[in-house]
This record gives sequence, structure tokens and C-alpha cells, in this order.
Amino acid sequence: MKATTTTIEDVKSYLVLSLLSCLCLWLISLITLHWRRTRNVHLPPSPMAIPIIGHLHLLGLIPHQALHKLSLCYGPLISIRLGSHLCVVASSPETAKEFLKTHELSFSDKPPSKVASYLTYGSADFAFAPYSSYWRYMKKLTMTQLLGGQTLEQLLPVRRQEIIRLMKKLFEISEKGEDINMSAELSKLTNNVICRMAMSRTCTKNDFEAEEARKIVEEMTELAGKFNLADFVGFCKNLDFQGFDKRLEDLLKRFDKMMEGIMKEKQEERQKERDTSQEIAKDLLDIMLDIASDDDAEMKLTRENIKAFIQNVFVGGTDTSATTIVWALAELINQPTILWKARDEINTVVGMNRLVKESDIPNLPYLQAVVKETLRLHPAIPMIIRESNEHCKINGYDIPAKTRLLVNVWAIGRDPNHWSKPLDFKPERFIEIGKGLDVRGQHFHLLPFGSGRRGCPGTTLALQVTQPMLAAMIQCFDWKVNNGHGMVDMTEGPGFTLPRAKPLICRPVAILSQMPIA
Ligand code: HEM
Ligand SMILES: *[C@@H]1O[C@H](CO)[C@@H](O)[C@H](O)[C@H]1NC(C)=O
Repeated sequence: MKATTTTIEDVKSYLVLSLLSCLCLWLISLITLHWRRTRNVHLPPSPMAIPIIGHLHLLGLIPHQALHKLSLCYGPLISIRLGSHLCVVASSPETAKEFLKTHELSFSDKPPSKVASYLTYGSADFAFAPYSSYWRYMKKLTMTQLLGGQTLEQLLPVRRQEIIRLMKKLFEISEKGEDINMSAELSKLTNNVICRMAMSRTCTKNDFEAEEARKIVEEMTELAGKFNLADFVGFCKNLDFQGFDKRLEDLLKRFDKMMEGIMKEKQEERQKERDTSQEIAKDLLDIMLDIASDDDAEMKLTRENIKAFIQNVFVGGTDTSATTIVWALAELINQPTILWKARDEINTVVGMNRLVKESDIPNLPYLQAVVKETLRLHPAIPMIIRESNEHCKINGYDIPAKTRLLVNVWAIGRDPNHWSKPLDFKPERFIEIGKGLDVRGQHFHLLPFGSGRRGCPGTTLALQVTQPMLAAMIQCFDWKVNNGHGMVDMTEGPGFTLPRAKPLICRPVAILSQMPIA
């Protein structure tokens, strides 16, 4: 007789079976739900996706390059799914204009990200803030005061001193006939400039503190550029696979400690100054503390707001400006005739007896063209990232609310419909076009600083640092790599600010017996 009692084995297989059927049901309901949601939505063309991760696997290590390749197959407007987020990618000047100009207000938000929320004190910051009344207030402050013409003018000596300091070092290196790591030197330069502009005295008083500040900024930029799984795959939100949260938390603590120290010191100094009624050029921290203590101000700035803004300026302004100068120098080493042509221009306008300076730049159109051409081929922020706040129709396609927008600035600068021989580094193209083509977001085939209200508020400052520094390096030195044999490797590496795969290590060879009078 057969036993009718259930055995352990039966229970096991029963459990497995019911688990399997649950899984099937869940999958089916997911698919129908997805189908129902997207049935009436006409999205831009899209490659095949994998469940859960969507198109994440297609991004590779260098997303702007991977998306450029996809756009060559699927067109200048595509939709992809990165984990649980729908994204659209614009890769031509025409589509960029549709999003950034025609539908500007629908695409003026920034998507939330874990890094942003950590590094920016929740939502106390400016660069990652949604398009809100706080953002509008900060934007106004930034353009009229913090990074406005008058402040930049007053802080000119800071930029000048830092450029002269690096030039002196380069003359020493040249005398010794040594190589120098220009990637490192230029990031020190921009870091010092921004640090001194933001909180002048603190950054120069104490080498140890300045070095710590530099390290913090370096790490912040690195983390901001790292791809964080939790931002894309919903169920990873509270997991910390990559050890990310820990590093972020540590970093934020260090930054906060540094800022608190600086602010405390600053307030004591300000008190002393008030007592002795001295007038000293104001740095960004002074300006913000003034506003914070002004009872009539339109909005009350908190300590968090101030710290977050300083952090934005560091992350936004340091690496971006440094990489731009490094890429320009690398291009000039590979094509010395361009360097010589730029030097001829400087010699004609400035001569050889004094060092070129910021106020000479308007008279140096070829030098300006070299920087524009650098920004076209090597935009330090290769993709502009925004988020839509409402459903809209673009080129006949539906773009739902909360869709992430990626504008591939890097691909747009290489669009053969708008640039002849797009891969050649040829500053002359800007001279031929004439004065009209600038980089401030009016021309949608050249968008290194973005466009519209959310465009980069540091554009003027960025040009004030990159152009004079490059001009001085051109005026005084020839540059050699590998003892003068071979070319600079122009491969890009992974990261937020278009880093080079290899740092630029080269040798300055002075063409003047000593540094011209500064
Ligand atoms: C070569 C140097 C630089 C490049 C290529 C660059 C590029 C950009 C780009 C593409 C954006 C996004 C624009 C958009 O969404 O339309 C941006 C935003 C921003 N940049 Fe820059 N930038 C540079 C230098 C600077 C400097 C020197 C500062 C400040 C001192 C700065 C501060 C910012 C801030 C705060 C934002 C966020 C603005 C907002 O969210 O409204 N940038 N930058
Ligand atoms: C050059 O500087 C970069 C940036 O600071 C650094 O990552 C790299 O390791 C340095 N390379 C050498 C060989 O010193």
C-alpha cells in the first residue's frame, strides 16, 4: 500500500513550485503594467533593453562616447532606460535647442542623485537644486555679486598672482631641464585660484590646510563623477555595494569640519576688522556672511546654504578649468605650428618684454580661438544633465514628466553636419566664422557651458583663468614630451570632467632667458 502521508521532499517541491509560479505571476504583472503604462506613449527610438537594468550595460566606462555611438545608429534623439529611470539623449544641435531653448522651463530641474544629496547638505545647494525660488534667488546673487563683474574685477590680483607663481616654477623646471606633471600643476593652480577667491586668507595662510582643501575637492569631483548604482536601480537604493556611502559620509564630515573652522576664524576676523574699521577686498565667503547677517535680505541664507555654495563653486570650477588648459596644451604640443602662430600674435600685441595678462585677451583673437576649439573637442562637462517637470512633446515624441535629459555636448561638437572635418583641431575655423560664434550658449552646436537659465554661471571666470594661463605658457615656452620624440596620447579616461587617460607629463623649454616682467 502506498503511503499518503506527505514527506519532507513533497513539501520542498511544493514550495519551489509555488515560488516559481509567484515569480511568473509577478513577471507577467510587471510586463502588463509596463505595457499599459507605455501603450499610448510614443517614445523616441530605443535600442533593445535588458530587464531591470535597462540600457545600463550599454553605457560602458565613458558614457558620452557610448551614447554618441548609439546616436549614430538610432538618431539624434533616443530614449534609454537606466535602471528604473527613463532618459532621453539629445545628440544634435537641433534637438539640443528643442530641449534647452524651446522647452527650457520644462527642462530646468536637476535630477536627484545620492552624491548630490550627500555633498550638498540635503537640498541646501544651488547647482543641484530644482528650478525653485531658492535657486532663482541664488542665481541672482551669483550673477550680481558672487561671480559678478565687480567681484571678479576685485579678485583679479588673486588670479594674476597664482599664474605668476606657476610661471616662475616652470622657468625653474626649464632651467633644470626636467619634466613636470602639468595635470597636477594646473589642478593646483585652479584649486588655489578658486580657494583664494572663495575664502582668501585661509587658503594661503597655511600650506597644510590648503593641501587638505585640495584633496577634499579632488575626492568630491571624483565621487561626483563615479557612477552610482543606487541612483539608477530602484532596489539598490538602500544597499551600499560599492562602499560609496561610507566614503561620501567621511568626505562630507571632513569638508564640514574644514568649513566650520574657516567660518569661525572668518567671523572672528570680521569682528576685528569691524573694530578697527579696515577695508579689505571681499571674498565670496565675506559676501555671503554679509548677506546672511543682513536682515533686509530677500531670503535668509543659512550656514548650510553657504557651505553648499562654496562646495558647488569648488566642484564646478576647479577640475573643469584645469582639464581645459591641459587639453589645450596637449593639442598644442601635437601641433606646434598652432602654438607658434598663437605666439606670433602675442608677440605682436604684447611684445616679449612683459608677461601677457588678462586685459590683453580681447586683443588676441587667435588665442581665444584656440580655447574655443579646445572646448569644442574637449568639453570639460561632456554631458548636460537635466530633468523634465512636466509631460511634453518633442519632435512628435512623448517625453513624460520626470524624464532625465542628457545633452551630449561632446557629440554635438563633433557633428559633421555643423563642423567640417570635425575631428581636426583647427582654431582657424573660428577666425573664418568671425567674431560671432561664442561659447555662452547662444549657438547650439557649441555648448561647453550649457545654455539658458541653468547654463554655467562661472563662464566668465573660467575664461579669465584658462585664457591668460594658456597665453603665458605659449608666450614663454616650447613644450616637449618624451624628450621631443613622439606625440601626446589624447585618449580620454572615465570621470565626470573629461579627464585624460594619462596625465600630461612634459618639459617646458624656455624661449626667453628669463621670465618677462609680470
Ligand atoms: C572650463 C570650465 C567650465 C566648464 C566647461 C563648465 C561647464 C558647465 C556646464 C556644462 C554646466 C551645466 C550647464 C547646463 O546645465 O546647461 C555648468 C554648471 C555650473 N557651473 Fe560650470 N563650467 C566651468 C567652470 C565653472 C566655474 C569656474 C564655476 C564657478 C566658480 C562653475 C560653476 C558652475 C555652477 C555653480 C553650475 C551649476 C549651475 C546651476 O545649476 O544653475 N563652473 N558648468
Ligand atoms: C600627475 O598628476 C596627476 C593628477 O594630480 C596624478 O593623478 C598622477 O598620478 C601624476 N602622475 C605622475 C607620474 O606623477
